[in-house]
Amino acid sequence: THAADLAGHHVVVSAGGTREPLDPVRFLGNRSSGKQGYALARTAAARGASVTLIAANTTGLPDPAGVEVVPVGTAVQLREAVIKAAAHADAVVMAAAVADFRPAAYATGKIKKKDGEDPEPITLVRNPDILAEISGDRPRPGQVIVGFAAETDDVLANGRTKLRRKGCDLLVVNEVGERKTFGSEENEAVVLGADGSETPVPYGPKEALADTVWDLVAQRLA
Ligand code: PMT
Repeated sequence: THAADLAGHHVVVSAGGTREPLDPVRFLGNRSSGKQGYALARTAAARGASVTLIAANTTGLPDPAGVEVVPVGTAVQLREAVIKAAAHADAVVMAAAVADFRPAAYATGKIKKKDGEDPEPITLVRNPDILAEISGDRPRPGQVIVGFAAETDDVLANGRTKLRRKGCDLLVVNEVGERKTFGSEENEAVVLGADGSETPVPYGPKEALADTVWDLVAQRLA
């Protein structure tokens, strides 16, 4: 139904959740499965785009056919891969859940509990904000940049604020819930545009949300 409306375009999608190591056996992470990002990669390829998928800890998901997959672990690695791929991209969609903070120190040996002692506090430092960085730099003129936001309260108001703060063209706001967002096959969202537009996407497969995102990207690339 969408023909090959993204043919001739190169797009970058990030998927999954970053993991920030504490020691060789532990990390700080989140509940992203990568399914929404993979749905974006599959639908873009089906619509004729050449696709680079930056995949953070998405074990278990099959590589989409015809898509270049770049596996990463941490936010810093995700940033490097996204910046490199974005230099040649017409659109970048950041569906990954990126850790805002990482442990300040990495213990090269497993952290042990000591009898009768309180645990050491974990000190965190800020990770780079990749979406804000590429939205500010725009490595290619006319590039369309899309962010995602998973929110629990004041979903639309928080989404509007985040869209302005990050400086992207579109922000897909999805509410955290039982059968949507993290880990599920389905999702439901509102796509906010920097132009003030609001596109609601009803509850359904993650591919349907992905197709709406590509519709809005294709309009902006035209
Ligand atoms: O993977 P699934 O299980 O299918 O779940 C999909 C999803 C819930 C992970 C996805 O739909 C989603 O909402 N992803 C964004 C999650 C989120 O809460 O993002 P955020 O509000 O922390 O960040 C907002 C945006 O900035 C995102 O596009 C994020 O990629 C980007 N970001 C965030 C922090 C950071 N340091 N760098 C970034 O680029």
